[in-house]
Amino acid sequence: MTENIITINNISKSYKDILALNKLNLEVKKGEMFGLIGPDGAGKTTLTRILATLLLPDSGICYIDNFNVVKEFRKVRKIIGYMPERFSLYPDLTVKENLRFFADLFNVKTKVKEKRLKELLKFNRLEPFQNRKTQELSGGMKQKLALSCTLIHTPRLLILDEPTTGVDPLSRREFWAILNTLKNMGVSIFITTPYLSEAENCDRIGLLHNGQILTIDTPDKIPLLFSHELIEIKGENLFEVSRKLKNIDSIIDIQIFGDKLHLTVEKAEKVIPLINGIFKKLNIKISEVNQVNPGIEDTFIELIKS
Ligand SMILES: Nc1ncnc2c1ncn2[C@@H]1O[C@H](COP(=O)(O)OP(=O)(O)O)[C@@H](O)[C@H]1O
Ligand SMILES: [Mg+2]
Repeated sequence: MTENIITINNISKSYKDILALNKLNLEVKKGEMFGLIGPDGAGKTTLTRILATLLLPDSGICYIDNFNVVKEFRKVRKIIGYMPERFSLYPDLTVKENLRFFADLFNVKTKVKEKRLKELLKFNRLEPFQNRKTQELSGGMKQKLALSCTLIHTPRLLILDEPTTGVDPLSRREFWAILNTLKNMGVSIFITTPYLSEAENCDRIGLLHNGQILTIDTPDKIPLLFSHELIEIKGENLFEVSRKLKNIDSIIDIQIFGDKLHLTVEKAEKVIPLINGIFKKLNIKISEVNQVNPGIEDTFIELIKS
């Protein structure tokens, strides 16, 4: 017996000749909010589907709260709430009707059903919309309703596969606030996301790449793994600027982040004057060139590229 809510031992999974998960190991503690980050095709959905007992691994063993996800899948299903990438709500049903449908699907007892529905509507602030047809909800509301349906049977572990992808930033923030409340209520959470900025809300983050975990740590420790120095450039026309800097030997890597460029270099104090010189010569107007501390995203990009 362990204090883990999830224990994954040496899981592999292939689809014909595609190796989606490659001898993956991972442990998530009870009460933890664990974020699995990875680019498209990394294997996030495959792993969450195995945990949700919907897909069989080729080899290896997974336990959820000490139940084997293959042999004891019925017990596992009772204690998890799984929200897939594309959660199927019934568009013609109202918010409340969808909740009732999922309550029945999960055998929520009639006695507690209506109380639970009320609680969830209130908790996720969907009360004013309870009689609205689901197809008329905004993207953010739909995700909150999907989460409510996932919570209907009061699961101990939530498994959420990219729940905030395609949702507007404000709704995303609200969604994370709800997850935090759930965590404080003692629910363990396993969430996948392509948004690194969101991952900072997690207790620990794992980076998945090509079906393997490259690193696992707390959000504050991950940037310590960055093995070079970082220069940040702010200004306009950054795509053009990055092209001008492409062939400079002392710049190891260039990444564009919206209104910023991040340059990976060996020694920032040596490269900054060089860059400023180039900008002056080419008459490029740049507002700032500074050495900055790496973030999670910089570190993950470096890990994936190395
Ligand atoms: N049903 C499937 N048949 C064939 N290949 C698949 C299938 N599902 C996923 N894959 C492949 O497995 C790899 C991992 O996919 P997936 O788990 O969906 O990753 P992610 O969710 O991180 O984008 C990808 O290369 C994907 O193309
Ligand atoms: Mg996926």
